[in-house]
Amino acid sequence: MLSAEMNERITRTDTGTPCGELLRRYWQPAALVEELDGPRPVKPVRLLGEDLVLFKDEAGRYGLIHKHCCHRGADMTFGRLEDGGIRCPFHGWLFDVDGKCLEQPAEPVGSNFCNKVRQPAYPCVEKNGIIFAYMGPGEPPALPAIDAFNAPDAHSFAFKGLIECNWLQALEVGIDPAHASYLHRFFEDPDEELYGQQFGARAAGTDTPVTEVLRNYDRPEIKVEQTGYGLRIFALRELDEVKSHIRVTNLAFPNAFVIPMSNDMIITQWHVPVDDVNNYWYAIFTDYRRTVDKQTMRDQRLASCTLPDYRSVKNRDNNWGYDADEQRTLSYTGMGRDINVHDQWAVESLGPIQDRTIEHLGATDRAITANRKLLMQAIDTVEDGGAAPLDDPDGLVAIDTIVASDNWQDDWRAHDMDRRGESPWAESPWRG
Ligand code: FES
Ligand SMILES: [Fe+2]
Repeated sequence: MLSAEMNERITRTDTGTPCGELLRRYWQPAALVEELDGPRPVKPVRLLGEDLVLFKDEAGRYGLIHKHCCHRGADMTFGRLEDGGIRCPFHGWLFDVDGKCLEQPAEPVGSNFCNKVRQPAYPCVEKNGIIFAYMGPGEPPALPAIDAFNAPDAHSFAFKGLIECNWLQALEVGIDPAHASYLHRFFEDPDEELYGQQFGARAAGTDTPVTEVLRNYDRPEIKVEQTGYGLRIFALRELDEVKSHIRVTNLAFPNAFVIPMSNDMIITQWHVPVDDVNNYWYAIFTDYRRTVDKQTMRDQRLASCTLPDYRSVKNRDNNWGYDADEQRTLSYTGMGRDINVHDQWAVESLGPIQDRTIEHLGATDRAITANRKLLMQAIDTVEDGGAAPLDDPDGLVAIDTIVASDNWQDDWRAHDMDRRGESPWAESPWRG
């Protein structure tokens, strides 16, 4: 339970807010690369409450500039892509990807006014299907050396989706391991493995669907430890006297989580504020052993959302597809087999910004409690002029596997090293 003031402090991210200043010190996803495909690569983007325009110049460089032209405020979304930048159609001022003013064609010949103005702009970098932006002060940090970034393109797939509520409650579902046994429960398991679907695999080395494990062992033991990147979260389910099922998931501070998708694939997922009451999830799916069937994964996801906003077809306007009959016979939620819809309901139904003054956190909410503590500390640190913390990816591993109950601390690491040993690209995540 939080005070109303504290809830405001950790959820609001517009310019000048303490939490907004913190999030701006980390690279944030701004768009999918595929959103700039096509003949005119210019796109309006709203990010952390700021209205911006993302474009790709003739040399293939990305620019993310303020929406309103620094001359008299016209909307740069309608700009002309030409002459090494984007040109405002109102009076022809031309800006490059860094916001440098290159031309002011209506100003007198010989004027140097061009050197005195700048269009506010943020640095961008493209990685494995996503364009990331750095919106903070000073030089941007290096992108962290996480598996999602280290993997070659052929082993990665990126996608996004709109969630119509505050970013923090959306993030918190990803660090809540207990909900998988309830929110994502099915009364029947799939006959075969479902490629590209969360919980679509068999438990490692068995014929048992992960959905069956989650349903039958519904009181996981949850342990949380702090790391240099945020939190490592263990959910242990004791299967018998010698074996346990383990899911190792992670909070990658401040607004991402890294979780297993299947035995060989992981999901690295950011929740970036559009504004205080909307956020986008951006995910990179990374496979250690095999190349990713991008077409299949894309088709699966496009079937359940509408473009250009990547809004879920099942959403608040249609009760997330809720069907009372189905809730009795097929799924715990009555909202179909797509677990992303379940999560969508779970976070949007809390309201635009969850009222945390009325909640009661239990033992299964350990990671949520721990994360809020980190968030409050980090907001204070940055507010006091300190550096943004928890940016060391050493040891960031997500895995879903079966371990010896009396040796689980070593076993899950050994299983991770096994898959890396067979991977054409993944090295040990453990330094030192
Ligand atoms: S308002 Fe953009 S050039 Fe004048
Ligand atoms: Fe979930």
